[in-house]
Amino acid sequence: MGNTLTEQYSKVQWICSSHDNRELAERYDRWATEYDADLDKGYGWTGPERAVEYFMRYVPLRKSMILDAGAGTGLVGSLLAKEGYRNLVAMDLSERMLDEARKKNAYLECHQMVMGDPLAYENASFDAVVSIGVLTVGHAPPGSLDELVRITRPGGCILFSLRPKVYRDGGFKEKQNQLETEGRWKLVEISPEYRALTRVESDLLYQIWIYHVT
Ligand SMILES: C[S@@+](CC[C@H](N)C(=O)[O-])C[C@H]1O[C@@H](n2cnc3c(N)ncnc32)[C@H](O)[C@@H]1O
Repeated sequence: MGNTLTEQYSKVQWICSSHDNRELAERYDRWATEYDADLDKGYGWTGPERAVEYFMRYVPLRKSMILDAGAGTGLVGSLLAKEGYRNLVAMDLSERMLDEARKKNAYLECHQMVMGDPLAYENASFDAVVSIGVLTVGHAPPGSLDELVRITRPGGCILFSLRPKVYRDGGFKEKQNQLETEGRWKLVEISPEYRALTRVESDLLYQIWIYHVT
Protein backbone atom coordinates (compact mmCIF):
# COMPACT_ATOMS: atom_id res chain seq x y z
CA MET A 1 0.00 0.00 0.00
CA GLY A 2 1.26 3.47 -0.82
CA ASN A 3 1.96 6.36 1.40
CA THR A 4 0.74 9.60 -0.17
CA LEU A 5 -1.95 11.50 1.73
CA THR A 6 -4.48 10.71 -0.99
CA GLU A 7 -3.67 7.02 -0.68
CA GLN A 8 -3.93 7.31 3.08
CA TYR A 9 -7.31 8.91 2.88
CA SER A 10 -8.60 6.39 0.36
CA LYS A 11 -7.55 3.63 2.74
CA VAL A 12 -10.09 4.89 5.25
CA GLN A 13 -12.73 4.96 2.53
CA TRP A 14 -11.72 1.43 1.50
CA ILE A 15 -12.13 0.27 5.11
CA CYS A 16 -15.45 2.08 5.57
CA SER A 17 -16.92 0.72 2.34
CA SER A 18 -16.78 -2.87 3.64
CA HIS A 19 -20.12 -4.58 3.23
CA ASP A 20 -20.07 -6.79 6.32
CA ASN A 21 -17.91 -7.79 9.28
CA ARG A 22 -16.16 -10.54 7.31
CA GLU A 23 -14.98 -8.06 4.68
CA LEU A 24 -14.11 -5.48 7.35
CA ALA A 25 -11.98 -8.05 9.18
CA GLU A 26 -10.23 -9.04 5.93
CA ARG A 27 -9.42 -5.43 5.14
CA TYR A 28 -8.07 -4.73 8.63
CA ASP A 29 -6.12 -8.00 8.37
CA ARG A 30 -4.47 -6.70 5.20
CA TRP A 31 -3.75 -3.28 6.74
CA ALA A 32 -2.43 -4.62 10.05
CA THR A 33 1.35 -4.54 9.51
CA GLU A 34 1.28 -1.00 8.08
CA TYR A 35 -1.43 0.41 10.34
CA ASP A 36 0.79 1.97 13.03
CA ALA A 37 3.08 3.75 10.56
CA ASP A 38 0.14 4.96 8.47
CA LEU A 39 -1.79 6.24 11.46
CA ASP A 40 1.21 8.03 12.89
CA LYS A 41 3.03 9.44 9.84
CA GLY A 42 0.08 9.53 7.48
CA TYR A 43 -2.81 10.69 9.61
CA GLY A 44 -1.27 11.98 12.81
CA TRP A 45 -3.89 9.95 14.74
CA THR A 46 -4.06 11.28 18.30
CA GLY A 47 -7.12 9.31 19.44
CA PRO A 48 -5.18 6.98 21.76
CA GLU A 49 -3.21 9.79 23.48
CA ARG A 50 -6.35 11.84 24.06
CA ALA A 51 -8.21 8.83 25.41
CA VAL A 52 -5.45 7.92 27.84
CA GLU A 53 -5.39 11.48 29.26
CA TYR A 54 -9.06 11.13 30.18
CA PHE A 55 -8.74 7.49 31.19
CA MET A 56 -6.12 8.18 33.85
CA ARG A 57 -8.42 10.73 35.47
CA TYR A 58 -11.31 8.31 35.82
CA VAL A 59 -9.47 5.01 36.31
CA PRO A 60 -6.52 5.87 38.55
CA LEU A 61 -5.96 2.36 39.97
CA ARG A 62 -3.16 0.71 37.96
CA LYS A 63 -4.33 -2.79 38.97
CA SER A 64 -7.76 -2.26 37.33
CA MET A 65 -8.91 -4.99 34.95
CA ILE A 66 -9.33 -3.20 31.63
CA LEU A 67 -10.77 -4.28 28.28
CA ASP A 68 -9.51 -2.50 25.16
CA ALA A 69 -12.50 -3.12 22.87
CA GLY A 70 -11.50 -2.83 19.21
CA ALA A 71 -7.88 -2.74 20.36
CA GLY A 72 -6.52 -2.98 16.83
CA THR A 73 -2.71 -3.06 16.90
CA GLY A 74 -2.69 -2.08 20.57
CA LEU A 75 -1.90 1.63 20.41
CA VAL A 76 -4.14 2.40 23.40
CA GLY A 77 -2.85 -0.58 25.42
CA SER A 78 0.77 0.40 24.80
CA LEU A 79 0.17 3.87 26.17
CA LEU A 80 -1.72 2.49 29.18
CA ALA A 81 1.07 -0.01 29.87
CA LYS A 82 3.62 2.84 29.79
CA GLU A 83 1.48 4.59 32.42
CA GLY A 84 1.70 1.50 34.64
CA TYR A 85 -1.58 -0.33 33.89
CA ARG A 86 -0.89 -4.06 33.94
CA ASN A 87 -4.21 -5.90 33.67
CA LEU A 88 -5.11 -5.21 30.07
CA VAL A 89 -7.12 -7.44 27.74
CA ALA A 90 -7.38 -6.76 24.01
CA MET A 91 -10.41 -7.68 21.92
CA ASP A 92 -10.84 -7.10 18.19
CA LEU A 93 -12.58 -8.35 15.07
CA SER A 94 -9.30 -8.78 13.14
CA GLU A 95 -6.82 -11.54 14.05
CA ARG A 96 -3.95 -9.87 12.18
CA MET A 97 -4.51 -6.58 14.04
CA LEU A 98 -4.40 -8.61 17.27
CA ASP A 99 -1.12 -10.23 16.11
CA GLU A 100 0.36 -6.72 16.01
CA ALA A 101 -1.15 -5.97 19.42
CA ARG A 102 0.50 -9.12 20.87
CA LYS A 103 3.92 -7.84 19.77
CA LYS A 104 3.51 -4.80 22.00
CA ASN A 105 3.58 -6.97 25.16
CA ALA A 106 1.00 -4.72 26.77
CA TYR A 107 -1.89 -7.19 27.11
CA LEU A 108 -2.42 -10.24 29.31
CA GLU A 109 -4.61 -11.77 26.60
CA CYS A 110 -5.94 -10.97 23.13
CA HIS A 111 -9.35 -12.25 22.00
CA GLN A 112 -10.98 -12.23 18.58
CA MET A 113 -14.64 -11.22 19.02
CA VAL A 114 -17.21 -9.08 17.26
CA MET A 115 -18.79 -6.09 18.98
CA GLY A 116 -22.46 -6.18 18.13
CA ASP A 117 -22.55 -9.93 18.81
CA PRO A 118 -22.68 -11.40 22.35
CA LEU A 119 -19.21 -11.16 23.93
CA ALA A 120 -17.70 -14.22 25.62
CA TYR A 121 -17.06 -12.48 28.94
CA GLU A 122 -18.91 -12.97 32.23
CA ASN A 123 -21.06 -10.17 33.62
CA ALA A 124 -19.05 -7.50 35.46
CA SER A 125 -15.67 -8.92 34.31
CA PHE A 126 -13.95 -5.55 33.93
CA ASP A 127 -13.34 -2.44 36.03
CA ALA A 128 -13.13 -0.38 32.85
CA VAL A 129 -13.64 -0.63 29.10
CA VAL A 130 -11.94 1.67 26.61
CA SER A 131 -12.90 1.74 22.92
CA ILE A 132 -11.19 4.21 20.59
CA GLY A 133 -12.00 4.65 16.91
CA VAL A 134 -14.33 1.65 16.94
CA LEU A 135 -17.88 2.87 17.60
CA THR A 136 -18.41 4.38 14.19
CA VAL A 137 -19.91 3.97 10.75
CA GLY A 138 -19.49 0.43 9.41
CA HIS A 139 -17.69 -0.72 12.58
CA ALA A 140 -19.18 -1.47 16.02
CA PRO A 141 -22.89 -0.54 16.08
CA PRO A 142 -24.81 1.27 18.85
CA GLY A 143 -26.19 -2.08 20.04
CA SER A 144 -22.68 -3.16 21.03
CA LEU A 145 -22.90 -0.76 23.99
CA ASP A 146 -25.34 -3.17 25.71
CA GLU A 147 -22.63 -5.79 25.96
CA LEU A 148 -19.97 -3.30 27.10
CA VAL A 149 -22.29 -2.30 29.96
CA ARG A 150 -23.01 -5.94 30.86
CA ILE A 151 -19.33 -6.90 31.14
CA THR A 152 -18.34 -3.82 33.19
CA ARG A 153 -18.81 -4.01 36.97
CA PRO A 154 -21.22 -1.59 38.68
CA GLY A 155 -19.24 1.57 39.44
CA GLY A 156 -16.85 0.75 36.59
CA CYS A 157 -16.03 3.09 33.74
CA ILE A 158 -16.72 2.95 30.00
CA LEU A 159 -14.76 5.45 27.90
CA PHE A 160 -15.03 5.72 24.12
CA SER A 161 -14.49 8.08 21.22
CA LEU A 162 -17.35 9.04 18.96
CA ARG A 163 -17.80 11.52 16.14
CA PRO A 164 -20.55 14.07 16.89
CA LYS A 165 -22.17 13.39 13.53
CA VAL A 166 -22.20 9.63 14.16
CA TYR A 167 -23.64 10.27 17.64
CA ARG A 168 -26.48 12.31 16.12
CA ASP A 169 -27.16 10.34 12.92
CA GLY A 170 -25.84 6.84 13.61
CA GLY A 171 -28.27 5.67 16.31
CA PHE A 172 -25.85 6.28 19.20
CA LYS A 173 -27.81 9.16 20.73
CA GLU A 174 -30.89 6.96 21.07
CA LYS A 175 -28.95 3.96 22.45
CA GLN A 176 -26.93 6.05 24.92
CA ASN A 177 -30.09 7.79 26.16
CA GLN A 178 -31.88 4.46 26.45
CA LEU A 179 -29.13 3.02 28.66
CA GLU A 180 -29.28 6.13 30.84
CA THR A 181 -33.10 6.06 31.07
CA GLU A 182 -32.97 2.39 32.04
CA GLY A 183 -30.51 3.29 34.81
CA ARG A 184 -27.77 1.07 33.41
CA TRP A 185 -25.15 3.78 33.16
CA LYS A 186 -24.65 7.45 34.03
CA LEU A 187 -22.90 10.05 31.90
CA VAL A 188 -19.86 11.50 33.64
CA GLU A 189 -18.19 13.70 31.02
CA ILE A 190 -18.11 14.51 27.31
CA SER A 191 -14.90 16.08 26.05
CA PRO A 192 -14.87 19.15 23.82
CA GLU A 193 -14.86 18.34 20.10
CA TYR A 194 -11.35 17.88 18.71
CA ARG A 195 -9.59 16.90 15.48
CA ALA A 196 -7.94 13.52 16.01
CA LEU A 197 -6.44 13.20 12.51
CA THR A 198 -3.92 16.01 12.76
CA ARG A 199 -1.93 15.46 9.55
CA VAL A 200 -4.76 15.33 7.01
CA GLU A 201 -7.10 18.09 5.93
CA SER A 202 -10.15 16.55 7.48
CA ASP A 203 -13.23 18.06 9.05
CA LEU A 204 -13.76 14.90 11.11
CA LEU A 205 -14.31 15.85 14.74
CA TYR A 206 -14.25 13.50 17.71
CA GLN A 207 -15.33 13.53 21.33
CA ILE A 208 -14.48 11.28 24.25
CA TRP A 209 -17.49 10.04 26.22
CA ILE A 210 -17.16 8.75 29.77
CA TYR A 211 -19.87 6.78 31.59
CA HIS A 212 -20.08 5.03 34.95
CA VAL A 213 -21.99 1.75 34.98
CA THR A 214 -24.70 1.69 37.65
C1 LIG B 1 -9.64 2.54 13.56
S1 LIG B 1 -9.15 1.04 14.30
C2 LIG B 1 -8.82 1.58 15.98
C3 LIG B 1 -7.87 0.67 16.69
C4 LIG B 1 -7.34 1.19 18.03
N1 LIG B 1 -8.41 1.27 19.01
C5 LIG B 1 -6.66 2.53 17.85
O1 LIG B 1 -7.08 3.51 18.50
O2 LIG B 1 -5.69 2.62 17.07
C6 LIG B 1 -10.68 0.18 14.48
C7 LIG B 1 -10.51 -1.24 15.02
O3 LIG B 1 -11.81 -1.72 15.37
C8 LIG B 1 -11.92 -3.06 14.94
N2 LIG B 1 -13.35 -3.31 14.75
C9 LIG B 1 -14.17 -2.78 13.83
N3 LIG B 1 -15.42 -3.22 13.98
C10 LIG B 1 -15.39 -4.07 15.05
C11 LIG B 1 -16.36 -4.86 15.70
N4 LIG B 1 -17.65 -4.87 15.31
N5 LIG B 1 -15.97 -5.62 16.75
C12 LIG B 1 -14.68 -5.62 17.17
N6 LIG B 1 -13.72 -4.89 16.58
C13 LIG B 1 -14.07 -4.11 15.54
C14 LIG B 1 -11.09 -3.15 13.69
O4 LIG B 1 -10.70 -4.47 13.41
C15 LIG B 1 -9.92 -2.23 14.03
O5 LIG B 1 -8.87 -2.94 14.64
